[in-house]
Amino acid sequence: MKYYKEAITHPVFNYVTQAADQLGINAYVIGGFVRDFFLQRENTDLDIDIVAIGSGIELAKKTAELLPHHPKVQVFKSYGTAMLKAFDIEIEFVGARKESYAEDSRNPAVEPGSLQDDQNRRDFTINALALQLNQANFGLLLDPFNGLEDLQQKLIKTPLEPGITYSDDPLRMMRAIRFASQLNFKIETKSLDAISENYQRLKIVSKERLVSEFNKIMLTKKPSKGIKLMHSTNLLPLFLPELTQLQGIDEVEGQTHKDNFWHTLEVVDNISRETNNLWLRWAALLHDIGKAPTKKFNKKNGWIFHGHEFIGAKMVYKLFKRLKMPLNDKMKYVQKLVLLSSRPIAIVDEEVTDSAVRRLIFDAGDYLEDLMILCEADITTKNPARFKRYHNNFKKVRKKIKEVEERDHIRNFQPPVSGSEIMQTFDLKPCKEIGIIKNTIKEAILDGDIPNEYEAAKKLMFRKAEELGLVNNNIDV
Ligand code: CTP
Repeated sequence: MKYYKEAITHPVFNYVTQAADQLGINAYVIGGFVRDFFLQRENTDLDIDIVAIGSGIELAKKTAELLPHHPKVQVFKSYGTAMLKAFDIEIEFVGARKESYAEDSRNPAVEPGSLQDDQNRRDFTINALALQLNQANFGLLLDPFNGLEDLQQKLIKTPLEPGITYSDDPLRMMRAIRFASQLNFKIETKSLDAISENYQRLKIVSKERLVSEFNKIMLTKKPSKGIKLMHSTNLLPLFLPELTQLQGIDEVEGQTHKDNFWHTLEVVDNISRETNNLWLRWAALLHDIGKAPTKKFNKKNGWIFHGHEFIGAKMVYKLFKRLKMPLNDKMKYVQKLVLLSSRPIAIVDEEVTDSAVRRLIFDAGDYLEDLMILCEADITTKNPARFKRYHNNFKKVRKKIKEVEERDHIRNFQPPVSGSEIMQTFDLKPCKEIGIIKNTIKEAILDGDIPNEYEAAKKLMFRKAEELGLVNNNIDV
């Protein structure tokens, strides 16, 4: 019998202890909180899971009654759970239960059970550790599956036969891989085999939950670890077929191209050393997806992926939609980075005009720095001399960008003559000529034909308007 009182010093546990003792039921803290205590892991979004041998809802209500601020208890009757917030922590209460699952659903039929029943139904041994909260046994560890040992061995293992645990709730296949990536643990072989056997059951899991787990993998230090596990267990083609389609090397007339799947994983790891921005990591993951549908061989140029950035950007939209990810500015950001992913390399050339640089600055806007990070992460050559040369090239690109920017102030620029000024000058209602004039001014600035200044832009406005046959009604302007 081992006690770990030091794990449960947070003041909120006191109230749960009192509530459980007053109700005469046993209560335990279980799951992530206990696991992370033993791992000495900083938990940023701390939440606490409490199991009651009896009604979790009653225990939550009693705890709320005892807490000084009497927080509101949110009851989820159909799940038999309740939640309250205290000291900025979410505390979830559940009655210990047995679960049985139907073939096509993640929602089990539930009946009350013992602590052991409840631990049986949990996903992993490391998540089934429980500490008792009642005064008489405060801090007693209940660890029927040797979860503590698995924590030390860095092992992901299921409490029951893995086939049962994964088939019951297939989201756990993703969770296993997510925990393995986050904690740098190994999934035991039996468990990995069971995932490979049950992979098709991922289909019954909601897209939102899959994405949420996948994002946690993407936010780990080395996302390729999780993605490779998804790949070797067959989960990846179900979730991101666009990615697995990049796998393989073709050969025609002795010419090959690189394997863009394995290359992509390296790019994702590279970028993850530079940024915690989830969406920039996603951009790295998807930057080459347009290469599968555009791949062609021709005698003159060998393997080409003509327009893959454009096709890739379109695929980003479809992919986000399929995965029910929000089609918001994050999606547009990923799309734009994919679309522009080959542009910086095009201005490496010494001969390149300022106008190409200006256009890149204008097109990338606020995303320019992120685009450069993506391009640098894209360098995966194993040849040290080339590696150095490519990085130096991007240093030059950065320098050029800086020079042009300091001179021309192009980033996010608004054409110096506004649409309303054009309308006023020529007494126009909204019409296509306004767009034509504005665009002419923008193009002339980007091409360097006129400076990014009001007077020059206005002159051009008059010239273009004349060409379009517009009459200036405001002669003294
Ligand atoms: N659980 C489970 N099966 C799931 C989800 C959760 O058995 N599909 C159990 C595990 O015991 C888990 C607990 O419910 O520890 C709480 O789940 P959750 O809050 O999702 O995860 P944590 O383990 O707390 O980890 P994290 O906070 O990192 O998500």
